[in-house]
Amino acid sequence: MSLDLLLGLQWGDEGKGKIVDAITPDYDIVARFQGGPNAGHTIEFNGHKHVLHTIPSGIFNKNSKNVIGNGVVIDPAIFLTEINGLKKFNLDINNKLLISKKAHIILPTHKIIDASSEASKGKKKIGSTLKGIGPTYMDKTGRNGIRVGDIVNNNWEKKYQILKKKHLKLISNFKQTTNLNLDLLEKEFFRGIKCIKSFNLIESESYLNNSILKGKKILAEGAQGSLLDIDFGTYPYVTSSNTTSAGACSGLGVPPNKIKNIRGVFKAYTTRVGSGPFPTELSNQIGEKIRDVGHEYGATTGRDRRCGWLDLVALKYSIQINGITELNIMKSDVLSSIGKISVCISYNIDGKQIDFFPYDISSKAITPNYKVFEGWNDDITQIKYEKDLPKELIEYINFIESFVDVPIKLISTGPDRDQTIFRNK
Ligand code: IMP
Repeated sequence: MSLDLLLGLQWGDEGKGKIVDAITPDYDIVARFQGGPNAGHTIEFNGHKHVLHTIPSGIFNKNSKNVIGNGVVIDPAIFLTEINGLKKFNLDINNKLLISKKAHIILPTHKIIDASSEASKGKKKIGSTLKGIGPTYMDKTGRNGIRVGDIVNNNWEKKYQILKKKHLKLISNFKQTTNLNLDLLEKEFFRGIKCIKSFNLIESESYLNNSILKGKKILAEGAQGSLLDIDFGTYPYVTSSNTTSAGACSGLGVPPNKIKNIRGVFKAYTTRVGSGPFPTELSNQIGEKIRDVGHEYGATTGRDRRCGWLDLVALKYSIQINGITELNIMKSDVLSSIGKISVCISYNIDGKQIDFFPYDISSKAITPNYKVFEGWNDDITQIKYEKDLPKELIEYINFIESFVDVPIKLISTGPDRDQTIFRNK
């Protein structure tokens, strides 16, 4: 059959986990293709709230297989904790989860490098989740990395020791060090390695392509968001992988002509965690209210997320570079009772109006131009049909849709799987 993609279109935390979980009954396989435990995909159902970091969000669906693709970086210690956390759900996880032999492994020293590098940057820090993501991808592109396929060889620890020694030398050069305890990290790491070895380690590119030939439906689940993409995001305040649709091809080994639908997920407003430019940020009471009502605290780090208005210039850019075919709007319930709602439709830079996402959005001279909408006061969290939504919300949604020229096919009205309105567009 074919492959559909699901991607975040902002700076991450758009609610991708909820959507993957809600639509997995339509898919035979869910596959993660990039990033690692910097992601925190939150899923709520039947009174449970669960956060996944490395494991695909299709894991709770009885019938779907879940694949950790070659583009993902895996922290064995976090992986083990995730597996233990899933035990209470009786998921037959060893049968449901498959791991690419080509995925790279995050070493304890990668985490120390990440922390030391960030601390040494001072005010210029990226705001990394400190999970060792950047240093692991650096070793991947530097052709020094250790892959899942290596750990089944008896002499892989020799390779580990050589890389560790190299890392320790690098760490000693940083101005700032961290208080992470390497011995302790290594203990957890080797326990995690044992756990990874107990799974089906596969050539996931063959598995996925053969599955397509057999008529299976696959969903590729993105992590982070397009504006954090290493090439197209707000560099250097980005993550270290391609979070955009091209990343699904290289992170799974599935060719572009097999991709069918590309679903883009965005919030009715914008958030960003960590450093970096954010033209529509609200450093006022409205921003605080959005954070409070929307529980905008990092699922991985617990940090406050910065909140602001929806930026349609940025959204249009993300839609363009990903080839989005349908949109899903999340957390529209958070905007209830907020008063008038603004949405950015262009920027002013140095007195000039522009309607595209420029090379550099960090300049203080950049100001958003807003269109203002009437708000609504109704609680929409129990509404099941679009016709019952407040007319102001529908106006807001219709405007977004016509501005970006892509249909919004799903409206999320709360965190639970059931708080989802599918639109027949
Ligand atoms: P790293 O990927 O942990 O190195 O973090 C790089 C930047 O991406 C930082 O600003 C992080 O806050 C941000 N980031 C990484 N993963 C996520 C995510 O899953 N959601 C939101 N922001 C993220």
